Amino acid sequence: MRIRTFDEYQAAYQKSVEDPEEFWAEIAQNFHWRKPWTKTLQWNFTEPNVKWFIGGKLNITENCLDRHLAEQGDQPAIIWEPNDPAEAGVTLTYKMLFDQVCRFANVLKRNGVQKGDRVCIYMPMVPELAIAVLACARIGAIHSVVFGGFSAQSIADRINDAQCKVVVTADGAYRGNKEIPLKSTVDDALIGCPSVEKVIVLTRTRTPVSMLKGRDVWWEQELKQVTAECPAEEMDAEDMLFILYTSGSTGKPKGVVHTCGGYMVYAAYTFQNVFQYEAGQTHFCTADIGWITGHSYIVYGPLACGATSIIFEGVPTYPDAGRFWDIVDKYKVDILYTAPTAIRSLMGFGLEKVENHDLSSLQVLGSVGEPINEEAWHWYDEHIGKGRCPIVDTWWQTETGGILISPLAGITKTKPTYATLPLPGVQPILVDENGKEIEGNGVSGNLCMKFPWPGILRTTYGDHERCRQTYFATYPGLYFTGDGCLRDEDGYYRITGRVDDVLNVSGHRIGTAEVENAINMHTGVVESAVVGYPHDIKGQGIYAYVITDQEPNGHDADLTKRDILATVSRVIGPIAKPDKIQFVTGLPKTRSGKIMRRILRKIAEGDTSNLGDTTTLLDPAVVEEIKAGAL
Ligand code: WT7
Repeated sequence: MRIRTFDEYQAAYQKSVEDPEEFWAEIAQNFHWRKPWTKTLQWNFTEPNVKWFIGGKLNITENCLDRHLAEQGDQPAIIWEPNDPAEAGVTLTYKMLFDQVCRFANVLKRNGVQKGDRVCIYMPMVPELAIAVLACARIGAIHSVVFGGFSAQSIADRINDAQCKVVVTADGAYRGNKEIPLKSTVDDALIGCPSVEKVIVLTRTRTPVSMLKGRDVWWEQELKQVTAECPAEEMDAEDMLFILYTSGSTGKPKGVVHTCGGYMVYAAYTFQNVFQYEAGQTHFCTADIGWITGHSYIVYGPLACGATSIIFEGVPTYPDAGRFWDIVDKYKVDILYTAPTAIRSLMGFGLEKVENHDLSSLQVLGSVGEPINEEAWHWYDEHIGKGRCPIVDTWWQTETGGILISPLAGITKTKPTYATLPLPGVQPILVDENGKEIEGNGVSGNLCMKFPWPGILRTTYGDHERCRQTYFATYPGLYFTGDGCLRDEDGYYRITGRVDDVLNVSGHRIGTAEVENAINMHTGVVESAVVGYPHDIKGQGIYAYVITDQEPNGHDADLTKRDILATVSRVIGPIAKPDKIQFVTGLPKTRSGKIMRRILRKIAEGDTSNLGDTTTLLDPAVVEEIKAGAL
């Protein structure tokens, strides 16, 4: 399962293409299966229908917990660093984590959760979040973690889509100097969620909360009622493990579905090889467990490999911009995995925040979530890695379950801004607008995959047709990533960003249509169009062009903007708030009524010199007006 040299990488890659079934079967044998699979792979990308390790039976928590107990039961599995550095952290050994997962699994059962039921988890970054996730997996319940920054409306949409029976939350969350009222947001959400029978509430901030008799129970009270005995449910390799909602170019977020066997094998295999994880190392992934990065590289991947994984509750700039380096120093972190947006923001605080920390424990640096610009890459390399730590720029998606294109740390020669080469089992292909393959090197096109890997999404929850439409219909026979990509003379891949209407704001994926729908819900708004523009820290900022029924002026305009932001916050969450709002009287539309986003993007970028062909516009004059009022 372990690749140690570039020759071994090449051999593994070749084998994975020539005989994918044999390749993955060998890797999967490193895990604990209750029953072996009878067929390794069955697939087509038309329906689509992808199944790995068919007939295999397992429980992912036996692989993440039970099997480590004998040899490394006393090794830390999770180290928790609280928001406030003055508060004591928590270290959970594998034995302790196992015990707590079993207990909480029994709490779920006591509250009516059975195999196949969906459980929504809306929590701060505390150990109990990982415990709740693993407890679901233990009993075969399907978790749907919702990032703590989403609004009541977003929670309700996700709960209703998956028909969740139970919600696990906390009274509140600490983030920097803010206290966020999670339970009260859940209460608002639940007004419209008839499927929810029980809410389990952890105490964290001890902020006042309402507790509805018959529905709401305290985590701590429930724990007193259960034992630590909880045999793992036997799961089929293709049973659902979790749903994770993510944004696309149209409509509401989709519930991406991952299954037990393939996801486990892929998360663990990629964790071990990309980061070149060695037994006993400490891994610090700064993502939130509410995103796929946290699922795969805080919880499942590291634990399946027996690693020590850090869960950090706070933000990189609290109490000051040296917090990440404090944590690296304090816990002697070996592997640091973070996002370009965090690196860019910390660069801005100067080197004195870095210099007074001992970063000599670091072995490997990772980057994820968005393209990393050259300046950030070099700063990370020189000032954090001190020129001696390989950087792995890992490209992947919620839908891919794990990393697809990335260097193997210290093995693949890196090149700033390049995700470099596909991992074994990954077969990228670049296509043009018509789906024709673009062969050779020194080319660019739309990035697709022509063969399944074990971590590929299986469906979008409750709507398989949407899965087909979104990922498998654009280019028949291929999985379409939505990303543009170039392949240089060395065959190295560089991801250039989304080619659809999906934005990447501080590594958060946001659909322009979602933001438009939220803005359009604001009173007086007639229509809106949202595009991204380059932003120094966030990568992309959100630029909204808004038509209102009465054009606001001066102070009035400021108030209306403020109110639109409040509406977007309320409908989606603060992460989707536009950075800029420009009031306009019209939008550039073609005669068939389609908004020409290309023009709006150019104006938002501040590049109005060459707007291209505008002759097909219904009313070319609106372009002049928009240009004149550009922010
Ligand atoms: C989109 C997926 C799975 C990681 C967290 C984001 C962009 C991700 C990179 C990278 C350039 C990247 C892509 C992708 N992206 N990693 N290393 N270089 N772009 O997961 O929310 O599903 O977003 O993030 O555009 O499609 P996600």
